[in-house]
Amino acid sequence: MASSENQGRIDKEKQRAAAQALRWVRDGMLVGLGSGSTAAYFIQLLGDALRAGQFQVQATATSLASEVLARSVGIPLVEPRRGLRFDLTVDGADEIGPQLALIKGGGGALLREKVLATASDYLLIIADSSKLVPQLGHFPLPLEVVPFALPWVLDAIAQLGGDPTVRLDKKKAPQPALSDQGNLLIDCHFKSLPDPAELALQLQAIPGIVEHGLFLGLARAAIVAQDEKLVVHRLGAEPVDAAGFEELP
Ligand code: A5P
Repeated sequence: MASSENQGRIDKEKQRAAAQALRWVRDGMLVGLGSGSTAAYFIQLLGDALRAGQFQVQATATSLASEVLARSVGIPLVEPRRGLRFDLTVDGADEIGPQLALIKGGGGALLREKVLATASDYLLIIADSSKLVPQLGHFPLPLEVVPFALPWVLDAIAQLGGDPTVRLDKKKAPQPALSDQGNLLIDCHFKSLPDPAELALQLQAIPGIVEHGLFLGLARAAIVAQDEKLVVHRLGAEPVDAAGFEELP
């Protein structure tokens, strides 16, 4: 299949998964808005639903880009504050492995994504079929790193076998890409991650790594689109067809 044809198919899958996620939204909810292209479809559709009067929600975004988009489609935004908890956060993923373990941060928003995922009662992942993998690690694992600590973080990741590269700004290369917090982004090429929990502990022990892109035990469900089919994956349960899925928050 030609790659633009494949891209078109994947894009349709993203849109379908995003549209299905609207079924999780209830009137009055506080919603976390993810980042990336799949989450962007969800934000647009949520804006359409609000304007159509289907329900009212308030939201906080996981990136400046998502915040700008949310504002442009009329989603009321709330600032971070103490005690704020989200009923639902809808976000994309770079890889979805066994037990809904995720790699996230391909768009560089991993820190805010993890903050909101942790402050949410229900993290719903929406994804196209290319994201579902039998083992995490083919997608390079992103890290957000404080600039001063960069050389030592690179040494530590190389020692762990992660073949680290500093992410470059797509528009201003060779300048490095910066996160919304002004930190650097490192991509680690481990190739496969047989024990993500152990690696997460090792990464947490390296000074200067603000956050890593392993999201373990955070997602409650994932809607994965495969051509016309939409499948809901949950922890400890067989995947089910989304059409007949009733266990909503
Ligand atoms: C953003 O930092 C990421 O975590 C995204 O959620 C992830 O990269 C998925 O992006 P797409 O929806 O664009 O594939």
